[in-house]
Amino acid sequence: MSTNKKNDFYKILLGQLLSQDEGIDAEILSNSALNAIKFASLNRNFPIISNILLKASSDFQRNNASLNQIIFGNHFKNPLGLAAGFDKNGVGAALWSYFGFGFAELGTVTWHAQEGNPKPRLFRIAKEKAALNRMGFNNEGAEKFFKTIKKQKIASPGNRPCVLGINLGKSKITTLDEAHKDYALSLKLLAPLSDYAVINVSSPNTPGLRSLQETKQIKKLIRTLKDLSNCPPLLVKISPDLDNDAIDEIATVSLEEGIDGIIAINTSLNRFNLKNLKIKTGNTLEQENGGLSGLPLQERGIEVITRLRSCTNNDLPLIGVGGISSAKSAWERIVAGASLIQIYTGWIFEGPNLVPDILDGLTLQMEKHGFKNIKEAVGSKEPWK
Ligand SMILES: Cc1cc2nc3c(=O)[nH]c(=O)nc-3n(C[C@H](O)[C@H](O)[C@H](O)COP(=O)(O)O)c2cc1C
Repeated sequence: MSTNKKNDFYKILLGQLLSQDEGIDAEILSNSALNAIKFASLNRNFPIISNILLKASSDFQRNNASLNQIIFGNHFKNPLGLAAGFDKNGVGAALWSYFGFGFAELGTVTWHAQEGNPKPRLFRIAKEKAALNRMGFNNEGAEKFFKTIKKQKIASPGNRPCVLGINLGKSKITTLDEAHKDYALSLKLLAPLSDYAVINVSSPNTPGLRSLQETKQIKKLIRTLKDLSNCPPLLVKISPDLDNDAIDEIATVSLEEGIDGIIAINTSLNRFNLKNLKIKTGNTLEQENGGLSGLPLQERGIEVITRLRSCTNNDLPLIGVGGISSAKSAWERIVAGASLIQIYTGWIFEGPNLVPDILDGLTLQMEKHGFKNIKEAVGSKEPWK
């Protein structure tokens, strides 16, 4: 039931480029795509654009009731989402449903606008279907983000074809002691636009940020945000580099503090068996700063979801992300315990057809296993058939 590869214009257009680490800079490529998406979103009622979007939705969307779920009060048409970091400024907020996603996580947004780290800061590692990035939360800041979403005139939370989460980070200029106030300023402003919000304490590219995963710090952060009168469902996104005790601890704290879900995993400082692999700069991965994403994260992604599932007694919705690049890897993350899944690096390498390929593959697996709804597959440990 795979999408017709003969018509895969993405691969025809970009296949050559994406199959090598050299060539057009990965960030330039990504920004060009985002500029086109931004234009299309603002002008989606123009006949030419609305026709293109209609064609996109007929290619990419799947309307299969067995993929529907209600999770932390949101109605998800399907369990597949766009992971945080691709649409940092929310420019495509109105369009992600046309690509077939059941949800999209916008951001990371910080209270202060910031440039991020010096360029180049995003590298393809084509042979491994991976990427290295040290973007450093480059974004236009929460106030501009608010205006960008408003300009697109999208439906209010609860009434959207695609659930929209907003992922929040700490501004670089804010000290770790003041971090809770910085997140709170962003959330207070953006809550009315959010179907859910994410406390991102797991990016490796903001100095000290990951220390906010420690019990005392994360408690303070959660309590400050939950105290806001307009706080939407609140999730925490964690790092793959936490040890087992730290994962257990964060799961316990999340349950105690009334967190609505955990997203696992962010990019990794681990280089796995790729330490000596050279990237475009001429340096090895071991010598370069930044977080690794894509296929090398697949196993760790399953491990963390499995651990979270067992230490939360299946009581907390989990979102699995990291190295998902096929229907099979999507299935494996769901049966390990993820109610929802997200893609980023795999989507870049495989192209937009990955969404219907995953949704069709999941539907077929459910049929083979006799499941009526994707909920039954979550944590079932059923193998890919
Ligand atoms: C270029 C790039 C930028 C990212 N930026 C963010 C970000 O701003 N916030 C965040 O929570 N995760 C960010 N991520 C991490 C992804 O959301 C995801 O957790 C990670 O890449 C693993 O998924 P993948 O293997 O499907 O890419 C970024 C990833 C990449 C590749």
